[in-house]
Amino acid sequence: MTTEKKTAVLVLAAGKGTRMQSNLSKVLHPLAGIPIIQHLINTIIDLAPEEVIFVIGPGMESVARAVAPYPTVIQLSQLGTGCAIATARPYLLGFEGDILVLYGDTPLVSVSSLKSMLGKLRESPQTVAISLGFLLKNPDGYGHLVTASDGRLVAVIEHYEEISTQHDIYLCNSGVIAIRGQYIFNLIDQISSTNLREEYYLTDIIALAQSHGLICTYNEGKGQELLGINTQYDLSLAESLVQERLRDTALSSGVTLIDPRTVYFCSDTKIGCNVLIHPYVVFGPGVIIEEHVEICSFCHLEQTTISSGARIGPYARLRPGTKIGKDVHIGNFVEIKQALIEQNTKVNHLSYIGDGHVGANSNIGAGTIFCNYDGHKKSFTDIGANAFIGSNTALVAPVKIGQGAVIGAGSVITKDVSPNALAIARGTQTEFQNWNNTDRETLESKPNCRKF
Ligand code: UD1
Ligand code: MG
Repeated sequence: MTTEKKTAVLVLAAGKGTRMQSNLSKVLHPLAGIPIIQHLINTIIDLAPEEVIFVIGPGMESVARAVAPYPTVIQLSQLGTGCAIATARPYLLGFEGDILVLYGDTPLVSVSSLKSMLGKLRESPQTVAISLGFLLKNPDGYGHLVTASDGRLVAVIEHYEEISTQHDIYLCNSGVIAIRGQYIFNLIDQISSTNLREEYYLTDIIALAQSHGLICTYNEGKGQELLGINTQYDLSLAESLVQERLRDTALSSGVTLIDPRTVYFCSDTKIGCNVLIHPYVVFGPGVIIEEHVEICSFCHLEQTTISSGARIGPYARLRPGTKIGKDVHIGNFVEIKQALIEQNTKVNHLSYIGDGHVGANSNIGAGTIFCNYDGHKKSFTDIGANAFIGSNTALVAPVKIGQGAVIGAGSVITKDVSPNALAIARGTQTEFQNWNNTDRETLESKPNCRKF
């Protein structure tokens, strides 16, 4: 491979993101369950460029941690996208390949769009830069790509700088640009901040290149992958676009979604084939579902693994650290956290299973609670295989229920129970014969009898 064909990706993420009106850095806002910037990182991983540098602002240590191990360079004053590029110059000294500039707030760009830009740049030695544009009726907030009849790109005019706005449809600037490394810093050195925002616009390098007789062109991409996220509203639009994409992926891989629009996935949700998902199910990060699983309505799952044949919900909440074995049934109003439920076990109604293990073929009765927290620390509950826990049982952790043990309904179990034993820990039932036949006067004359 020649040095000419090397690619450096420069991601601009130093902007203050003030339009988000949030304390969280813009690129760390979750989008389909993972930070905005992680979507871009996943695309960069697929592209596999030789160099990657993220430009971040001062005090953005959390962003630096999110993009690690990729290196970051700090843009001390956020004077615009052109200034951000200049900040990275010392890290790209002597780099003679192609530089691909991505914006941290444009996370849905596909690897195929990026490859197509780089391919076009390499095929046309006369071209120094290729921008990625997309058509939009309302160009609010976007730069406008000004093109010549021969297909060249002659300038980019920021929306707020444009005096005439009589176009029906705009070719908008996505911000993504592929540019030959030997030109970029020379052009950046020549831009000024004499504009409405008093910023150094990276986009000004196109008109400058044109004035030097250098050729710039553009590719037209899809609006769905080039949305820039500047506001909470933009973020909500991006979320719906990603959800549509994730639903399509699930459907085309053999997952049945009865009402796709009501199911929310996370970018990393993994679902096997022949899985049936009822309406209104939310997947948080880290969910893995094997084949032939049924998830009924109104379930919320995160950091959970579900083995084949299991049935979950309706109304189940599976929290981080949940592992559901083969053919397990988890029913309505059951919450599980940091627990392993082994094969064929049933937890069908109204239970909390936190910090525990339930062996195979066990039955956890309605209203069973793992009392895992004493106000200071969490403790473990271990239930063996083939156990039967009667309804409304409180298991006060740490506690161990042996395999095959039976717990009487309504028990508060504080001590370990031996295998195959029956344990009952509740008030003994007392009976007063003919209680209701006792006349009022006799009852009043025996006050203690009234305290039942
Ligand atoms: C920018 C483009 C616009 C394009 C739009 C696409 C410029 C001048 N305008 O506008 O043509 O249509 O994106 O979404 O480039 N950033 C820095 N340092 C800075 C300023 C910004 O790193 O000093 C980063 C931001 O974090 C962001 C990106 O650059 O990720 C773009 O900045 P932003 O302020 O969002 O530009 P837009 O107004 O969206
Ligand atoms: Mg933006």
